[in-house]
Amino acid sequence: MPGIVVVGAQWGDEGKGKITDLLAERGDAVVRFQGGSNAGHTIVGNGETWKLHLMPSGILHPGKLCVIGNGVVLDPKVLTDELDELRRRGVDTSGLRISANAHLIMPYHLLLDHAGEIKLGRLQIGTTRRGIGPCYADKAARLGIRVQDLLDEKILKKKIVAALEPKRLSLREFAKDQRLDLQAMTDEYLTYGRRMQMYIADTSRLVQERLDAGDLVVFEGAQGALLDIDHGTYPFVTSSNPVAGAACIGAGVGPKDIDEVWGVTKGYTTRVGAGPFPTELDGSLADELRQRGGEFGTVTGRSRRVGWLDLVALRYAARINSLTALAVTKLDVLSGQEKLCVCTHYRGAEGAEFDHFPYHQTVLHHAVAEYEEMPGWSESLRDCRSEHELPEAARNYLQFIADFIKVPIALIGLGPGRDEVIWTKASADMYGSGAVAAPALAAEPNDR
Ligand code: IMP
Repeated sequence: MPGIVVVGAQWGDEGKGKITDLLAERGDAVVRFQGGSNAGHTIVGNGETWKLHLMPSGILHPGKLCVIGNGVVLDPKVLTDELDELRRRGVDTSGLRISANAHLIMPYHLLLDHAGEIKLGRLQIGTTRRGIGPCYADKAARLGIRVQDLLDEKILKKKIVAALEPKRLSLREFAKDQRLDLQAMTDEYLTYGRRMQMYIADTSRLVQERLDAGDLVVFEGAQGALLDIDHGTYPFVTSSNPVAGAACIGAGVGPKDIDEVWGVTKGYTTRVGAGPFPTELDGSLADELRQRGGEFGTVTGRSRRVGWLDLVALRYAARINSLTALAVTKLDVLSGQEKLCVCTHYRGAEGAEFDHFPYHQTVLHHAVAEYEEMPGWSESLRDCRSEHELPEAARNYLQFIADFIKVPIALIGLGPGRDEVIWTKASADMYGSGAVAAPALAAEPNDR
């Protein structure tokens, strides 16, 4: 039963879409299990660029089962727009299946997210304002509206009324907003329901059938471990669990169905929105990395905060996700740096050394990163297709990461294109020995 989870090992935007896409090419099904249209992944292939928010990355491979699991919060406007765009560009979307139990982002969730951030003022989280927090809050309060509710007008209307009731006060300023008109909202959502109907299914069962058949199922995480509502830098987090354990809950499979967990990390670190970031850089070096790495949000267009690689945080992510492999992306962005810094521990405000990610937010907010300096490299890496072709300094940098985290690096990303990667010897060792996904992954090493 090869189930492989791909998660972000930092604060999101690590390039999970590309890694999932590469695995999906070799797999049979891709399942998104949390988050919503706050995610944004860019996939570049065959001279085309695809920017997806809700659609599982596998959608670009015809015939794959692509599941939006019950753990996702789904904005039906975003989804139907994506469907239209994919169809317009000739993509076969017949493999899509949507969990009937997934919760829907409603117009009031968007308004509340926006209003909530404004109210917080200087304390704001910097959300993507896609209604994610308010939607998960309704889910927990048992006031959520699910995909299946779109198939029955009476139920839909009743549930909207019930969901709006406790929000009267906070929505007062939008009392005349057309988006909150009960009939208009019901009609709009019924239309989405009709458009999505052919895709709605018992996705937990479909996924289980694939696993039972021995197919390779890729569970695609959104955001990253440090944005996890339980394990991340709360309250500067998203409202779901981007860690691997959530794949089971958000897809409807059991823990034994997961065989491998891949964590994706950039060769450096970025973060969007507010919150602690011990290795953050500023000034010209930050600008340079931001420009070279194209570090501007796919969802909101915001500039991402940029910093050195933080191995304290990465080791923490490896632990809470049980990572079995790492994919290191955007290594090419570091070319041209005379020296590279990697954070190996933090120094607390009172001088204490922290080897482990501090659980206390006050400590983390005041933590100063301390670094190991390593020589950089000047060469472009974009054309390297095997580890031997990488400059020695780049190989040493990767080895240092793998040794520190104690997780092997299976894949190295050297540019946005699908082919700009190296499947490492470690991936062949891991998968060539009959383990999960073995034949598919080992059959196509990029060594030339
Ligand atoms: P929300 O998920 O829109 O509620 O935003 C909460 C926090 O998570 C904010 O700091 C966002 O910038 C961050 N966030 C949400 N989704 C992503 C993502 O896909 N990549 C990076 N950061 C994200």
